[in-house]
Amino acid sequence: TIRVSCSKTVVIGVAADSGCGKSTFMRRLTSVLGGGAESPRGGNPNSNTLVSDTATVICLDDYHSLDRAGRKAKGVTALDPRAHDFDLMYEQVRAIKEGRAVEKPVYNHVTGRLDPPELITPPEILVIKGLHPMYDERVRDLLDLSIYLDISNEVKFKWKVQRDMAERGHSLENIRASIEARKPDFDAYIEPQKQYADAVIEVLPTQLIPGPGDDEGKVLRVKLIMKEGVEHFAPVYLFDEGSTVNWIPCGRKLSCSYPGIRFAYGFGTYFGHEVSVVEMDGQFDKLDELIYVETHLSNLSTKFYGEVAQQMLKHADFPGSSNGTGLFQTIVGLKIRDLYEQIVARR
Ligand code: ADP
Ligand code: G6P
Repeated sequence: TIRVSCSKTVVIGVAADSGCGKSTFMRRLTSVLGGGAESPRGGNPNSNTLVSDTATVICLDDYHSLDRAGRKAKGVTALDPRAHDFDLMYEQVRAIKEGRAVEKPVYNHVTGRLDPPELITPPEILVIKGLHPMYDERVRDLLDLSIYLDISNEVKFKWKVQRDMAERGHSLENIRASIEARKPDFDAYIEPQKQYADAVIEVLPTQLIPGPGDDEGKVLRVKLIMKEGVEHFAPVYLFDEGSTVNWIPCGRKLSCSYPGIRFAYGFGTYFGHEVSVVEMDGQFDKLDELIYVETHLSNLSTKFYGEVAQQMLKHADFPGSSNGTGLFQTIVGLKIRDLYEQIVARR
């Protein structure tokens, strides 16, 4: 990549609660941006930073002003803004955006304490992911695009149960209690950031299965909500821009087993903003048939026919690859690449 001397880093914010798929989304994004393997920065094996040729992803937990013991002593959760140093976050994100390297703190998730800082040099694209990328107005104003991963409470609970019960041996009651304990702070400090997002990926239980629904929570209804009028970010549409569409692709061209797949496209308002919404409920049986769906979506910002399907197939082992979470994360990745290329082209 050729760097222009006046180049400025493009900054993207990704907000979500922990355990809501941020890391998976980052792996899809760095894959779309291309340029080799991701590797942790510096010598610290507990670094939270991901570096690829084009992008650096930093985790905002690194701006914890209260470490684990400090939070415990003050009775403050990690979701509480009082546990974070927003002044430093703002100064450092601004410095990187202006082309200056910074010594960023490192929060060690194993020890729950701060490790010695690590050097972050300005990349082409800086992604700040974490609990509060859009909380502080100064930081928010530095973002070229902001994304919120909105996992509904029911789905979040099911994902946590799968992970914490199966992999970490926690009890159902403990998992429920820890989610309940976090909820007031989540509602107060994390969720309100949705109103600032240019794109929201909303993950809900399926509507395809009647009655009590899908107990395992494997079948998901996922919406990609895209704000209108955002510079360098043209919303994706299905069939015909500006229309309202309900589409069941199952039939001769796409194999669907129960409960099938349903797409929808339309308009609405989201926190007072005009938005376009593309929705997918259900899951793909055969991932290579996704190309048929891709053909009917426009403004995808792909570089060649079938790029979405190719990315999805390449990472078929990532969580969410057979449903709308993987599909829309991949599409948002392509839109970020496009936004970056448009900004660079204008310099
Ligand atoms: P975060 O970085 O936000 O903590 P991860 O990407 O590490 O989240 O995902 C945490 C866990 O949530 C995964 O290990 C998986 O169990 C579950 N998960 C994430 N995304 C999905 C998805 N799209 N479908 C199903 N489960 C998912
Ligand atoms: C969230 C934060 C982490 C924090 C964790 C648990 O996931 O992102 O930084 O470590 O909560 O918080 P605790 O106070 O139990 O360490």
